[in-house]
Amino acid sequence: MDPLLGAADLARLRDALRAAGFTSDGLDAGAVRALERGDTSRLLPLVTDETPLGTLTRLFLLTLAVPIDEATAVLGPLDPLVDAGLLKRGVRKGTPAVRAAVLLYPYRQGWLLADAAGGGSDLVVGLSMYPDVLARARVGGPVGSALDVCCGSGVQSMHLSGQAGSVTATDLSPRALRFAATSAALSELDWELLHGNLFEPVAGRRFDLVVANPPFIVKPGTVDYLYRDSGMPLDTLGQKIAAAAPDVLTEGGTMQYLAAFVHLGDWRDRVSSWAAGTGLDAWIVQLGCSDPVRYVHNWSHGAGLRNRADWLAWLVEHDVEAIGWGLVSLRRSGRSDPVVQVDELPGGVPDVDRWFAAQDWLRDHSPLDECYRAAPGVTLRQSAGLGPDGWLVDEHLLTAELSARVNQLAVDLVEGCDGTLTAREVAAKLAAAYGLDPAQVVESTAEAVRRLVERGVLQWER
Ligand SMILES: C[S@@+](CC[C@H](N)C(=O)[O-])C[C@H]1O[C@@H](n2cnc3c(N)ncnc32)[C@H](O)[C@@H]1O
Repeated sequence: MDPLLGAADLARLRDALRAAGFTSDGLDAGAVRALERGDTSRLLPLVTDETPLGTLTRLFLLTLAVPIDEATAVLGPLDPLVDAGLLKRGVRKGTPAVRAAVLLYPYRQGWLLADAAGGGSDLVVGLSMYPDVLARARVGGPVGSALDVCCGSGVQSMHLSGQAGSVTATDLSPRALRFAATSAALSELDWELLHGNLFEPVAGRRFDLVVANPPFIVKPGTVDYLYRDSGMPLDTLGQKIAAAAPDVLTEGGTMQYLAAFVHLGDWRDRVSSWAAGTGLDAWIVQLGCSDPVRYVHNWSHGAGLRNRADWLAWLVEHDVEAIGWGLVSLRRSGRSDPVVQVDELPGGVPDVDRWFAAQDWLRDHSPLDECYRAAPGVTLRQSAGLGPDGWLVDEHLLTAELSARVNQLAVDLVEGCDGTLTAREVAAKLAAAYGLDPAQVVESTAEAVRRLVERGVLQWER
């Protein structure tokens, strides 16, 4: 797939961007962080900035018209950029001007090209909360090969370039692939870009790390926007991607993707069934959830009232109570006892490395015979009901990354774990203090310890 610009024009553009400081290092750190979530508001001070950085920010991020002379002074000859569809000519206050036809984000070690809102059905989406969450939740550590399915602008590939020996990216949209090719070439990165449906372009190949931010919106089976609509019923796409994982992952490999979770009866059982039978460890974390009315409102982007009503009626017809979205992480751990867990972390970013490490550790140790400490920052929230004998605490919620509803014994256990006594010894001490049977207390502690380690409340001593 060819970039939109030839090598010489790309080199000239890159030099101009660098010289102006239009890089993620050149911008204010807070503005870069906001930009990563698609928020350009922190760049507004640059609207009146007369430096080349101000010019490029107005042009490529705020999509404001810039006088031709000013743009030429920063970018050099504009014709190649106009011909490639990056800029379009116009007039501003009677003066010849150019305006960006695409967004160009300074991003990590390079730049990313994407469409501004309002494009056609093959719109290449820019930065937003979704790719940001996927990138931040990605498992760490160097890998040999990585695959970015549904790569769009190439935002995930950009992250993978710092982690993987080779990066392959696929998309169904030729426009997205040309944008990704341009981003890669401009950023001096080497990605193998392949056109096709989901995993078809890499059939028979395996990767150490696979990521995907696919079109996971739940709507009637038509594709209005390729970036958003899969054309598959309800959340079938998420199930289909999970089913592909065993054949695309190397031994020890990890797949992470965003998905919708349709709430139909017990949604946790439904989504955990995606992983059952794959033989993979799976951590499925819901990060947000909307009722059908809010969902249609949020995703219908100016669609007419009739379309919204049809969409909503379709959700109601299918008994959809709510629609969640979140992250699915699957790992080919080579274990005979794969763990599948579903959690909720509204608005959060799951620490997937920690979760997989905890699962390995729990399987390789006898948790009762290990020493622990409470994770830094653990909180305990209790609520009480007023009974005949006064206040009675009836709920204890321990929270680190995730929350665990526990009993008083577990609360005391966490307090007693000081890194020197094993969980078994702490439980025996508590039994003596409560006047309870030590064997019973130790037995009931085993499951609590496992749960508290899994949820990050207890950390094992290394
Ligand atoms: C939500 S966008 C994600 C883009 C980018 N990965 C990101 O994180 O911002 C989804 C992408 O999936 C692509 N796509 C849609 N259906 C596809 C399919 N069946 N196979 C491969 N790619 C597809 C779209 O063209 C779009 O680029």
